[in-house]
Amino acid sequence: MFEPRESAGGKRRRAKAARLYPKPMRSPVPEIHAGTGVRVPARWGQDIERILITEEQIARRIRALSHEIARDFTGREMVVVSLLNGTVMFLSDLIRNLSLPMRLDFIGVSSYGAGTESGNLVFTKELRLNVQGRDVLLVDDILDTGKTLCRVLAKIRALKPRRIKTCVLLNKVARRVEAVEADYVGFEIPDFFVVGYGLDFAERYRNLPFVGVLHAHVYKTAGPADKPIPHGKKDARRRS
Ligand code: PRP
Repeated sequence: MFEPRESAGGKRRRAKAARLYPKPMRSPVPEIHAGTGVRVPARWGQDIERILITEEQIARRIRALSHEIARDFTGREMVVVSLLNGTVMFLSDLIRNLSLPMRLDFIGVSSYGAGTESGNLVFTKELRLNVQGRDVLLVDDILDTGKTLCRVLAKIRALKPRRIKTCVLLNKVARRVEAVEADYVGFEIPDFFVVGYGLDFAERYRNLPFVGVLHAHVYKTAGPADKPIPHGKKDARRRS
């Protein structure tokens, strides 16, 4: 493969830049294995089996993530693109900790419906900001099979941003079917059905301040009333 040779001046400039702006150290991504042992509040006890990540752990991790992001994005106005609806809590805590100039927009995309498997994707809101030539941070709550991130990344790349980085609160590697990874990850988690802190089952539990494991009986016994309203004829979301 042809590789252009770098001039002596170029090498000097690169070495100087590396001295002035050392690469930020990435903190290791915490791996969650079973849970915290913290008691589930009584009002959620019927539906939530255990707390996987506490409110305090989330807050601490988001502070670390926002420092890393701030160091990487400093110097240029960024565009934060957040995926609806699951990022509602994560996004607000993340950007509250990011004291950088930014613009914010959302893409509405949904796959799960009332089931637990990701199927075809339905876009419910399109991006409105122009991201051409911009530094984009794409935020999602969970990276699971990777289908959502892949589709959305392709969509944004087609708009020719200067660069695009991805940030997810949770990474569930065990279920990945697409070759995609996030640049910033809050926690690595096992293959549990998780809800809370923005994540839902049939649009419920998003308001839990922690990430918890849903009792199997909840999603195994979900009735027709829990199914999503179809998007015209295009509702292809899988239901359990
Ligand atoms: C969830 C989640 C991610 C996506 C991840 O969204 O918010 O966007 O699934 O799954 P994947 O990696 O398997 O594609 P969902 O479709 O449930 O919509 P929501 O954000 O409104 O909850």
